[in-house]
Amino acid sequence: GMEEVANPMKVILASPRGFCAGVNMAIECLDLALKTFGAPVYVYHEIVHNKYVVETFKKKGAIFVDDVQEVPPKSILLFSAHGVSPEIRQEAKQRELTAIDATCPLVTKVHLEAIKFAKLGYTICLIGHEGHDEVIGTMGEAPEAIVLVETEKDVDTLEIADPEKLAYLTQTTLSVDDATRIINRLKERFPAIKGPPKADICYATQNRQEAVRILGTEAQLVLVLGSQNSSNSQRLKELAQESGTPGYLVDGASDIQAEWFDGVDGVLVTAGASAPEDVVQECLDYLVEKFDAKIETRSIREEEVHFPLPKELRKLVQLS
Ligand code: F3S
Repeated sequence: GMEEVANPMKVILASPRGFCAGVNMAIECLDLALKTFGAPVYVYHEIVHNKYVVETFKKKGAIFVDDVQEVPPKSILLFSAHGVSPEIRQEAKQRELTAIDATCPLVTKVHLEAIKFAKLGYTICLIGHEGHDEVIGTMGEAPEAIVLVETEKDVDTLEIADPEKLAYLTQTTLSVDDATRIINRLKERFPAIKGPPKADICYATQNRQEAVRILGTEAQLVLVLGSQNSSNSQRLKELAQESGTPGYLVDGASDIQAEWFDGVDGVLVTAGASAPEDVVQECLDYLVEKFDAKIETRSIREEEVHFPLPKELRKLVQLS
């Protein structure tokens, strides 16, 4: 025939990708709560920021709410992986809800740092994205002590009463590069500023970004599985784009447009920390079917992090 003979498409499948330990734990929590207590189980905010995960749980009887007042008194309420402010915990108590805290321990770590610095009388610059569930939760720990810093420009306009008593913390899912730039700017303006003992950007965020940085150089297009409201997934897409490679963030194969791949014979596929492996496989199937893609998994590092289920859940399961 007259068909063009193209190079076969090579797909690099990045590792680590997809679910992190915190997401695994949160999903296990909700699964176990549904199994043990039956539907409905209420969840404050999306359990993790992923459409597919949320839809699947809705079908199993989870009800997601953005307001504790929507939950009937005495029901079970799970707090999502992103964490909540003390005010929300208090509201749940007042409604006599049985709270199960599926907050990622690495988010809780940031909460504890905020509480510690606030107690010592520090002002805290929280580097993060306004309106993100995690940022709202962390700021709620010490609203009078925390100021949100989103950009380097924000640093320039900060007015700090006592620069000797200043600290910074960060959201767990930021771009490592952006955060570094903002932290450096803070250190320039406020040399005495203190930081967390260990970086707040979590291991999973760092590893997924590093994989895109390293493996992305071999690709002409980067496909990131994840939802639009997933912070760490957005950062992976941007990381590709900043290095000049087109990057697309998709929930699944049905979001993919075949034209993206015109003239492309090297693709990097990865997934944000809240995107299930099912949707990754669905996209690989699409690429194999449509473009006869050859898939090669490349790992930059092993991850062996695991978080136990919250003790209140383990106790409830034993009692039931
Ligand atoms: Fe926790 Fe990082 Fe995942 S903060 S929920 S391990 S993306």
